[in-house]
Amino acid sequence: MATQLKTEGERPLYPTHPDAETPKARGDKITGERYWSKDFAEREWEHMWKKVWHVGGRASQLEEPGDFITHEFMHESVMMVKQEDGSIKAFFNVCMHRGNRLVNVEEGGVMDAFTCPYHGWKWGLDGELNEVQDEEDFPQGSPCGKLRLKELKCDTWGGFIFWSFDPDAKPLLEYLHPIPDLLANRDLESHKRVVWMTLRVNTNWKFASDNFNEAYHIPAVHPQFMPMIDDHYSTTVFEMYPSGHNRMIEKLQPSSRGDASHSVEPLWADVLSAWDLDPEDFQGRAQEGRDALQKARREKGPERGYKYADKLTDHELTDQFHHTLFPNLTLTGTFEGLHVFRTEPDAEDPNWSTFDYWYLVPEVEGETEVATLSGMRPFTEAEHETGSYKDYHAEIAQGDFLTQDLSLAETQQKGLRSMAFTDAYLAGQETRVRRFHEVLNDYLEGRR
Ligand code: FES
Ligand SMILES: [Fe+2]
Repeated sequence: MATQLKTEGERPLYPTHPDAETPKARGDKITGERYWSKDFAEREWEHMWKKVWHVGGRASQLEEPGDFITHEFMHESVMMVKQEDGSIKAFFNVCMHRGNRLVNVEEGGVMDAFTCPYHGWKWGLDGELNEVQDEEDFPQGSPCGKLRLKELKCDTWGGFIFWSFDPDAKPLLEYLHPIPDLLANRDLESHKRVVWMTLRVNTNWKFASDNFNEAYHIPAVHPQFMPMIDDHYSTTVFEMYPSGHNRMIEKLQPSSRGDASHSVEPLWADVLSAWDLDPEDFQGRAQEGRDALQKARREKGPERGYKYADKLTDHELTDQFHHTLFPNLTLTGTFEGLHVFRTEPDAEDPNWSTFDYWYLVPEVEGETEVATLSGMRPFTEAEHETGSYKDYHAEIAQGDFLTQDLSLAETQQKGLRSMAFTDAYLAGQETRVRRFHEVLNDYLEGRR
């Protein structure tokens, strides 16, 4: 359970954990070659990607025994398979006869075995080899009962399926600690993924980890947020954990920069009006709208179908809770749902990566549609959309923050290739950026 350190009266303001700390960064350099060197990418593969837990999908994708999904990572393909007893196992998607890929689709289902397309060997859902052609013709004895698909560690948390290449990986919950505690007020298992997209970007995968570890870029890159998200470091909570994961909490209120905090701009007015608050009442004291919004959502949330509001603390009713999980996963909790960002390296070229955006939402009683970055979506599991980020356009009043970030990702990648760049010169509020690279170095240098 999360320890609730911050209390005011009866109800804690937000979930936190005694492990939270704000240590000084060690000072490791963030050099350019980390982003484009093939040698560096190879070290990441060898010492980091082969050790960490990877998020492979949503448990809801596997309904019946025999249902499977695949996850391509670098040169590997991992298959997650629903078992007869309802559990999930992960296997390398490789036939142990002569190495063919067993399945070549992203998701599907089989009755009771995976039949290899090459010589027809039949592998059971549990990875056992059940049947081969000409079983008597193996001088070394039948492979049935002898060979198994190579299995990987697999576990679930919050409705996410995780797997690891490392047979000695620490247990998933220990690896994720304390993020599951911090998200414990949200019933993530029952959330539905209403947006699922994978975008290809001409940048190194670490761009996203860096970018989600700071809000310093908001005024320049996302000025549209300033009327409703307080990006200023003086009002933001920054936390780091010994496990290597981080958190930042931004208040939902007009930015504390300059005069922005006083005036109610249209975006903020819309948020307030949606909960029957008169924006005019908050002119000149716009940030006070946040408290009023918390009260309104507390009082009216459940009757409007937001049953889950009862479980959220006051700050969770409004603020943005950004959890950056080492190395490549960001989980941003808001009142409406959970934004999931994941980046993965290209198998061949460190200058390319894929960027995943998933939007998970809890049920709102009486609603069949939900507002997303891609416009109104039905409250059902989304189909997978893939493509270049340049083809993607957001359909929300707050504008296209993903495209804004990703176009920066490409120009930064170009700059990092220059010999002029030898280290970053960071603001205090960007400490988590250096911290991320130091945790990565811990892996590369055998300290983790
Ligand atoms: S490679 Fe799979 S059956 Fe031969
Ligand atoms: Fe951004």
